[in-house]
Amino acid sequence: MNVVLLPGDGIGPEVVAATTRVLDRVGDFDYETHLIGGAAIDADGNPLPDRTLAACEAADAVLLGAVGGPKWDTTDPAKPRPEQGLLGLRKALGLFANLRPVKPLTALLDASPLKRDRIEGTDLLVVRELTGGIYFGRKERNADGAIDECAYTRPEVERIAHVAFRAARRKVTSVDKANVMETSRFWREVVVGVGRDTYPDVPLEHMLADNTAMQLIARPADFDVIVTENLFGDMLSDEAAMITGSIGMLPSASLGEEGRPGLFEPVHGSAPDIAGRGIANPLATILSAAMMLRHGFGSSAEADALESAVDRTLQDGLRTPDLGGDATTDQATEAVLEHLK
Ligand code: IPM
Ligand code: MG
Repeated sequence: MNVVLLPGDGIGPEVVAATTRVLDRVGDFDYETHLIGGAAIDADGNPLPDRTLAACEAADAVLLGAVGGPKWDTTDPAKPRPEQGLLGLRKALGLFANLRPVKPLTALLDASPLKRDRIEGTDLLVVRELTGGIYFGRKERNADGAIDECAYTRPEVERIAHVAFRAARRKVTSVDKANVMETSRFWREVVVGVGRDTYPDVPLEHMLADNTAMQLIARPADFDVIVTENLFGDMLSDEAAMITGSIGMLPSASLGEEGRPGLFEPVHGSAPDIAGRGIANPLATILSAAMMLRHGFGSSAEADALESAVDRTLQDGLRTPDLGGDATTDQATEAVLEHLK
């Protein structure tokens, strides 16, 4: 299996290196490492060099660390931004479905800022539309104003709705802002149509995005699959991550059409404040590699093994600083390897 590694910026290289050590324990992978984000801007002036894109298109899967950091922060529309690398890659690979599972591990129930009885039983999946909406609409800027356009087409909404209905075990909650936005009213109608025509047995409910932000904290265990457009999904998945105690724990998979490579990455981002200190939590990247094994390679036994090794590592009490402990990246990786023996 040919895996392209895109370590990227900040703690990205540290968590990706940790994860390849773990992957090597469960399989035989050929890695090719390429530049993306700020690292690629520094080397190439371009956050998504052609070589990187070509390698990803030819790969079986892509494992990404993180992109971005204060060094490249700018509000100048003419300057390249690291995030353009990731967004360009998502678009070029057609990765329209972003899956972000949120399931607090038993060992971490007390690490969450929410009370244990609120979060116990939470097992939800955010299905975020990833290649449309305001992220990819027309953008304009002049001296006196700026525009970000939000647009969705029927096929874009239909295909993500199918992903959500297929993943549902209890129900689908479609999140929008149909009381304000035209794209949301359209989204709602299309999702209703997909449910009625293809998944009549799966209960479907609609929830406004602001209310969802509140309900996620008030009763997270009531959710099953949340399907939503790009920007709401971005925000709600960060919020949902905190249910697990740390955004350092949340993995993700971004998938396109059958047969095309998926992209697997932790949700936490580049964490420039702790980069290079060897204390980043590698577990979300290891769990993203588990999603790669399951969704990319159909190796569910190996995926289960990784997930249970992470689980047992935490049960043993290991905690990196984001979880209130003082374990290093290396110690966390060693502990996972130990549990894979
Ligand atoms: C994410 C990130 C990205 C996004 C950034 C880095 C462009 O926040 O994957 O959630 O907004 O999609
Ligand atoms: Mg985000």
